[in-house]
Amino acid sequence: MKTRGNIELVKKLYGGDNMLRAEWHMLLTALTAKEKEYLRALAATVAEEKFGKGVYIRGLIEISSYCRNNCFYCGLRAANREAQRYRLTKEDILECCEQGSQLGFNTFVLQGGEDATQNDEWLTDVVPAIHAAHPDKAITLSVGERSAEAYRAFRKAGADRYLLRHETRNDEHYSLLHPQTMSASKRRECLKTLKEIGFQTGSGMMIGSPGQTVEHLIDDIQFLEQLQPEMIGIGPFIPAAGTPFTGEPAGSIETTLLLISLLRLRFPDALIPATTALATLHHKGRTQAILAGANVVMPNLSPRSVRSKYSIYDNKATSGCEAAEEIEKLEKELNAIGYRINFARGDYNKKGTEKCIM
Ligand code: 5AD
Ligand code: SF4
Repeated sequence: MKTRGNIELVKKLYGGDNMLRAEWHMLLTALTAKEKEYLRALAATVAEEKFGKGVYIRGLIEISSYCRNNCFYCGLRAANREAQRYRLTKEDILECCEQGSQLGFNTFVLQGGEDATQNDEWLTDVVPAIHAAHPDKAITLSVGERSAEAYRAFRKAGADRYLLRHETRNDEHYSLLHPQTMSASKRRECLKTLKEIGFQTGSGMMIGSPGQTVEHLIDDIQFLEQLQPEMIGIGPFIPAAGTPFTGEPAGSIETTLLLISLLRLRFPDALIPATTALATLHHKGRTQAILAGANVVMPNLSPRSVRSKYSIYDNKATSGCEAAEEIEKLEKELNAIGYRINFARGDYNKKGTEKCIM
């Protein structure tokens, strides 16, 4: 296709039209450097129209490095003997929130492996304690696949948002990344339930995970179109020691940035983080993501002593702009590209919640 054709495709996407698979294919594979720059600039403009030059911050509290699952890509998988395990207590978490509150955070994200000790009852006790201490703050959970009853209990207890990446929409690819004990349909069912319960729901996928093809990415985009998540987290795959994928190459930064821009145009209102995985692969990964249309950063609020232990992949960035207590650094980094931190809660803000059509 001629250059003009690709620009027309970008404009069509910007206009909100449904894209054919072949058109997604072109956008994902055939843009020249100039066309990519056009797309990036347009995505940044759309983000600016929606969110100004403000970037929302979420304080990430990594509550447990124990996990019963064995996702092939993840350093926290149960079978990884090299993983360092810890779990935070309720008191630890409340302390993190207190610190986060003093630093100006208005959203806390509790993320952890599927830890049998931090079970549904435990979480249903911790969430209201945070809510009572910080009634105005948003509470986000990212604690994996749970029952509908548990999700309902979390919501009732005061949780507002839930992050659960679908990882890949393609069932065959899913089974290449996960043991048979896990299923893609179960994951999708959980996401559907979360939406139905009224969580602001985040999903997403890794870019460049082993075996991933362009067709898989199109499946992912079409899945997101059905789910209509309020948040979309994407980051490059990064190999992790002690996992079956330890020798695999990392995902591409360029493709991740391209996806961020495409998703910004397709989901103008979505909350899209500049992920730690991008920042880990390149010192400019975070700012490049903002300039490509991302509008959220999630600095680490976990106790310093455990940060290196939450090792989902190798060399995960935990210092500098990734550290909550160094928030001035992040502000400076954003200022340097013409952005600033927006300390507001940053709820999804489109009139009427998006209807999931899964
Ligand atoms: N590289 C990049 N991202 C990873 N995740 C897990 N392992 C890796 C890895 N090796 C992502 C998954 C998960 C999220 C918490 O972290 O997408 O949903
Ligand atoms: Fe557990 Fe999540 Fe890692 Fe899978 S990706 S092993 S569910 S922590």
